[in-house]
Parts: sequence; C-alpha cells; structure tokens
Amino acid sequence: MSEPKRYTITSALPYANGPLHLGHLAGAYLPGDIYARYCRLKGRDTLYVCGSDEHGVAILIRALKDGVTPRDIVDRYHPLIEESFRKLGMSFDYYGRTSSDVHKNTSQDFFRTIAGKHFFEEKTEEQLFDPEAGIFLADRFVMGTCPICGYEDAYGDQCEKCGSSLSPRDLKNPRSAISNAIPILKETTHWYFPLDKVQKDLEEWIASHPEWRTHVLGQINSWFNAGLRARSITRDLPWGVPVPGDTPQTEGKEVDGKVLYVWFDAPIGYISASKEWAIAKGDPDAWEPYWKDEESRLVHFIGKDNIVFHCLIFPGMLMTHGEFVLPYNVPANEFLNLEGNKFSTSRNYAVWLHDYLERFDPDPLRYTLTSNMPETRDADFSWSDFQARHNNELADILGNFVNRTFTFVHKYYEGKVPPAGPTDALDRELVDLIRATGERVGEAVDAFQFKESQKRFLELARFANKYFNDKEPWKSRKDNPEGCATTLHFCLQTIYALAIYMNPFLPFSSAKVWEMLNLKGKPEGAGWDGITGANLAVGHQLGEAEILFRKIEDEVIQVESENLAKIQAGMAAAKAEKENAEPPLPQISFEDFKKADLRTAVVIAAERIPKAKKLFLLKVDLGAEQRQIVSGLAGSYEPEDLVGKTVVVVANLKPAVIRGVESRGMLLAVEDNGRLIIVTADGDVAPGRPVA
Ligand code: 2FM
Ligand code: ZN
Repeated sequence: MSEPKRYTITSALPYANGPLHLGHLAGAYLPGDIYARYCRLKGRDTLYVCGSDEHGVAILIRALKDGVTPRDIVDRYHPLIEESFRKLGMSFDYYGRTSSDVHKNTSQDFFRTIAGKHFFEEKTEEQLFDPEAGIFLADRFVMGTCPICGYEDAYGDQCEKCGSSLSPRDLKNPRSAISNAIPILKETTHWYFPLDKVQKDLEEWIASHPEWRTHVLGQINSWFNAGLRARSITRDLPWGVPVPGDTPQTEGKEVDGKVLYVWFDAPIGYISASKEWAIAKGDPDAWEPYWKDEESRLVHFIGKDNIVFHCLIFPGMLMTHGEFVLPYNVPANEFLNLEGNKFSTSRNYAVWLHDYLERFDPDPLRYTLTSNMPETRDADFSWSDFQARHNNELADILGNFVNRTFTFVHKYYEGKVPPAGPTDALDRELVDLIRATGERVGEAVDAFQFKESQKRFLELARFANKYFNDKEPWKSRKDNPEGCATTLHFCLQTIYALAIYMNPFLPFSSAKVWEMLNLKGKPEGAGWDGITGANLAVGHQLGEAEILFRKIEDEVIQVESENLAKIQAGMAAAKAEKENAEPPLPQISFEDFKKADLRTAVVIAAERIPKAKKLFLLKVDLGAEQRQIVSGLAGSYEPEDLVGKTVVVVANLKPAVIRGVESRGMLLAVEDNGRLIIVTADGDVAPGRPVA
C-alpha cells in the first residue's frame, strides 16, 4: 500500500465519571501515543485527538451517587483526566469534551444527515421504567440476572461476568440501579440505526482487512454470524445531546427529553475534537482532509470492550453518512489485570494514574505497561515487575550506559565529543545497529506491535552497554588512546540515536538526554530517518550529566503491594460472606406474617438448667400474663445480663417440652459468629405490645 498523505489517530474517549487507572492506559492510550509520536518523528502529517466522554448513564449514575448534577461530575473529572494525561506525556493535538457546543452541533448534524436519507427506523415499544424515580431504565440504569450465565448483577447493556451484550428486557428479575424498585413497562418512541442494512457493506470492508488482529476479527465475525440487528440510538434521559426535532424523520415528533445514545455521539467526538483543533489554530476547515480525504489513514486505539462500536457501529454510521473515511485499522488491546485480579473501580482495586504520578516518574510506567501490553491476550501489572523492569532494564541497561559514557567523557575529554579513529568489526557492528534500529523499531510500530518495538529500541542500549564493557575504555585509555576515543565517540553517537528512538516510549527521558547532549530544539524535531551514527560533531560540548533512572527500593514497592493486598483481602472476605450468606427464603404474604404473634416481654428471671450447658429457663412478663420460656442463650449471656431486658417473643408458638421443662414461646435472637444476640426494643416499651 502506498504511503498515505496523513494520519488521523484517535484514542477512546474516557468517561468523565472517575479518574484514570493503569488498566485504561495499557488499552487505548499508550499505544496511541507511541504511534502518534512515531508518526510525527517520521515527518508524517499527523492529527492525534482524544477527549472526555461526558454523556451517558455512567455519568448520571455517578452524579446520583454523589448527590450532584451530571455537569458537576464532568467538570470535576474532565480537568483531572486531562491533567493526568498531560503529566503522562500524552501528545494529543487536541483533547476535547463531548459537552461542548461544537460537539453538540456536530452530532446533531450527523443525525440530520442520516435522517435526511430516511435511514433510521422509528419504533414505539414498551421499555422498563422506574416508577419511583420516574425515569426509563436504559443501559446501566437497570440491573438483574444475566440470561446467559446467571450472574445476578448484570447491567442492562452488558453482563460484566460473561461479556454478553444485553438489552434491558433480556435481564431476569430486573431492578432499578437508581432506586432498587421493580420496573414497570411503559411505552416510548425511539430511533434505531438498522445495522442489518449495512451488514453486507461492513462484511466486504472487513474482508479487505485480513491483517487486523485475530481477536478483533474474531469478535467482529461472531457479530456477523449472529446477524447484525437494528440498534436503538436515542434514549429518554435528562443528560446528553438532544435529539434534533428538525430532521425529516423527527419533524413533528415528541423529542423533548430524548437524547442521542452515548455510543452514537461519543465516536463523533473524534470529529468534533478535530474541528475544535482546527478552530483553535485559526484554520476552521483544516480538520476536513483528516476525515474526508481517502488518502488519510484513520486508526482507532481502543480496549477490546469497545470493538463492536468502532469496528461495526461507527463505521456503519460513517458509511451511511457518506462523507467520511473508514478506519484503516482498529488495533484493540485486550485487558490488563492488576496483581492477578481484575481492576475494580467501585472497590478501589486499582492503581490510579494521578496517584501514581504523585510518587513516581511517568516514563517507568510507560515502559512497564508497554513491556506488558495486552496486545493479543490479557496481561498483568504487578509492582514487583514494575520494580524489576525499572531497575534491571531502564536503570541497569539504558541509564547505566548513558551515565557511564557521560561520566567518562566529562572526566577524560572535557565533556567534548572525541574523534573516531580507524574502526574495527565491533565498532562497525554498533554503527550498523544504530542505523538499523530506526527501521526495526518503525516496522514494529507500523504493524501495531508496540511491545516488540520497545524491545527493539532497548536492544540497541543493551548492545551498546556490552560494547562499552567489551571495549574496556578504562584500559584502552592508557594503552590505546585513539581506540578509546573511538569507543566513546560511538557511545555518544548511540546516545544521540537512543534519544530519538526512545521518544515514543520514554518522552521525558528523551528530552533529558537531549538536554544532556546540549542540543538545540527538541528530539521531536530531529526526525527519525536522519540517524547515521555520525550525527554529533567531533568537539561538540556536552551538557551536565544527570542520572536518568534511580533504583527503586524494595520498601517503596512493598508499601504499594501491601496496599493492594489489603484491598484484595477485603474483597475476598466480602465475596466469601456473600457466598456463605443464608439464601433468602421464599416470599410470604402479609397475612402469613401476621400469623406469628410477636410481642414485647420483659425478662423477670433467668436461671441455668442443670446439665443443659446452653439452656436458660427464663420467666418473662407479657403484660397480661407471665410465662416460662426455655432459651438457648446460655453460651452467649450470663443470667443477670438478661434480667430487666425488653425482648421480643413469639407468643403463639405451640408449647414444647425441652429437656423435660415446658417452654411456652420463643425469644427472638440473631446469630452472629456463633454468638446469639437478643432482639430488644429500642426505648421504653410496655410488655405485651404487638410487634408489626
Ligand atoms: O468505554 C469507554 O470508556 C467509552 N467512554 C469509550 C468511548 S470511545 C469513543 F467512541 F468515544
Ligand atoms: Zn452473563
């Protein structure tokens, strides 16, 4: 395929309903940033956009939970996310937000264009409605039992246990996620995007991309095999882009209170962000070629849970709209786990990016996550692996090589690039590798193999470190000064190359090395292809040396691991408790309940029953009468603890004889960890009062 004219790169818009964690980064963000940085270094015309996804039920749920408005939520998290991305070195050309006016207009125009082709379908049907909250229960507003795997906390749009895509009415025993109320059915009208009508075109297009990742094609084909169905693209919700009423398909219809489905407007957010980028640079039409010219290469970076939206629904929308290019590739990543378990934002089982950045540098995280990138299967982040990669690879290989070279040159060559004399085979091998590394790394990046590309960049540092060892300049300085100068000359040329090759992966270290080399401008401006092994002039004065990576001590890592282990233990205990909880009894009517004559009673005497270790004989006052009750409280109370307490008894229980003693009634008590705790009335209550 010939070189495209430009690259349009996107990373999934994160929901602005909470901070980012490391799982997000490994999925959609680091690969996108590595790709965009590499493209720019190659001199390619590149536009890299992202932004906050500020609509949808996820935002509303967060707002309800916190007792604030959805606007408060997005205004809280959008800046936090943007700032974290900036500190991580994400090089977006523009980071937008879907609550902007440009986005509203762009999404509505998109809808208008498709409605202008009378392509949507309109359906009036019964949907789940929360009678207490007065709201339709779309997507995550409804929870219930998954019809596929039986998971009890499945959402209306997806089961997080088995990954099945669901509709609210698929759920068994649905309940409102807002009020817990049992939903009723209520009629409402919505617009659907008939994905079935574009299935053939989508199949043809996907067939032209056999090079896509196997797991991505696997998901797509299973959707094709099941047959694509019309998808509802509007919702009855108080937050989102309003459905425009001035379109050929909505004219004269009731659209008040209806908004576009978040997955209809969110991907359009890539286009809105591009428009805002163009407006900000004072050339409002500049976005168009990136989206409309066939010679633009559009690449979406996402996590695997977004595949259907980016590989089928959004392309279907783009095709139907008619003016836009289709993605060239959607290199979705699989999931990252944390110390062997899934991330759980609700249980705080996560490493939050903003939190990480307060304690550590961004580059080691970028490096570790890229080393473990879940490109073809789920992967794991662990603090011990982070420490090992940082200390053994970044510090011991890359950092050490740069440091020992600078120290040597400052000590023996006044910090100036020494001249190269005659070269030997090892020198030439190094120079060849300097030149070849650019292509080797680049090939892997262009094939969306980021783990491999980073490995190839580090191979150069690894080789150079060994070169330094094998050349033993500390010896040759005395017996072969010309050879020693040659060694250091090529070490410095390698550092120049590394400063550029590391830029997509380790942008902050790249900038630091650039400064240490005392070079003008930025490594980003130097270009990927101009690396010859002779870029630094002989005699060039170097800047001050700085340690690139300081070893991370065991104690520091221990604190982080222990924090996670504690949360994990809490989660395991909560799970065990849930699993061991008594199963709920079948429902009974109020009439059934009323059959039990529950009354307050005051304990007036308590004594042990001989030879019955656990039993007390109690005398209780029920107001109109006194009774004796045999109770198994002896292992939990002393007799004197009970006297004077106002308890609750089942007064109409048939009398029974227990260990030869008659018992007329039963005290209510709760079992907790093997101990019985009596149910008492809160406050002064006369004996004999009915409990209801
Ligand atoms: O899954 C998510 O986090 C979504 N907010 C991704 C949206 S990507 C795009 F379409 F905007
Ligand atoms: Zn399921």
